[in-house]
Amino acid sequence: MVRFPDLAFDAALSEFAEDVVAGLSAQPRTLPCKYFYDARGSDLFEAITDLPEYYPTRTEIGILHDRARDICAQLAPGSALIEYGSGSSIKTEILLVAGDFAAYAPIDISPSAVDGAARRLRRRFPDLHIEPVVADFIGDFSLPASLDGLPRAGFFPGSTIGNFAPADARALLRRMARQLGPGAKLIIGVDLRKSPDILIPAYDDAQGVTAAFNKNLLVRLRDELGAEIDVDGFRHRAVWNARDSRIEMHLEATCPQTIRVAGHDVAFEAGETIHTENSCKYGIADFEEIARAAGWRALETFVDAGNLFSVRVLEAQ
Ligand code: AVJ
Repeated sequence: MVRFPDLAFDAALSEFAEDVVAGLSAQPRTLPCKYFYDARGSDLFEAITDLPEYYPTRTEIGILHDRARDICAQLAPGSALIEYGSGSSIKTEILLVAGDFAAYAPIDISPSAVDGAARRLRRRFPDLHIEPVVADFIGDFSLPASLDGLPRAGFFPGSTIGNFAPADARALLRRMARQLGPGAKLIIGVDLRKSPDILIPAYDDAQGVTAAFNKNLLVRLRDELGAEIDVDGFRHRAVWNARDSRIEMHLEATCPQTIRVAGHDVAFEAGETIHTENSCKYGIADFEEIARAAGWRALETFVDAGNLFSVRVLEAQ
């Protein structure tokens, strides 16, 4: 059978193309933030987590280190730990060392990420039953049957919940409550609302790593979808939206120009932007309200000494 090198024959690529055309045709123009994370984007995000300005990762790891015993004391002994978007499972090890877990199910869309993590963790925790799940945790998927009968603890670190608008965050948390079941716990990392003087540099660093991470979306359009696009005709912008309590990332056209992608022409005026990410920041009470509306009761909240970041333990009603 003859295969034509046509986008339509690759399901993932054609979904990417559809999402790009839909997002760029909308007003305001958007691109879905999930497309940041190809191999290069994942490397750039790793580099972001090491930046002096990007406090969330090191602050959350600090809280997990300092409070791991207190966090795990909230969980039923012999729980199954179920991690949504596990990536390299680095933060997970802190909990696995401190608590009593019977099983670990890392869920990630990247097969290489979950396989690598599972291999490393099997060596370090030979008695732990590890069952990777390759899935987009935002979509529908089933938990492995081998977890049946075990108490459940969800793990959703990194303030990934902040990428969802509050209504979508509520919907996702409600689905997790339903999936994990009544009495289940959820350990969730949530970035806190703070001064734009701290937030803006965290999303617009001096070395330009976040700029490269944001512009990687345009590189993907060019290299994977064959878009005609001047990547350097756009600049990275990080904006604090106080009304919606979120950092927004945008790509701003520096001069009038047109992107041609998948048979569509998308014209930009100078200064017009593509909105590429929201990172919502919550006050302690704000997030509890969202969690409660989604069927979760707050058990404990752990915050660093600088009040930058929170790790919460919730219980499904
Ligand atoms: C991985 C979604 C938590 O919003 O802080 C980092 C992604 N974007 N710098 C965040 C991100 C720009 C990050 N999350």
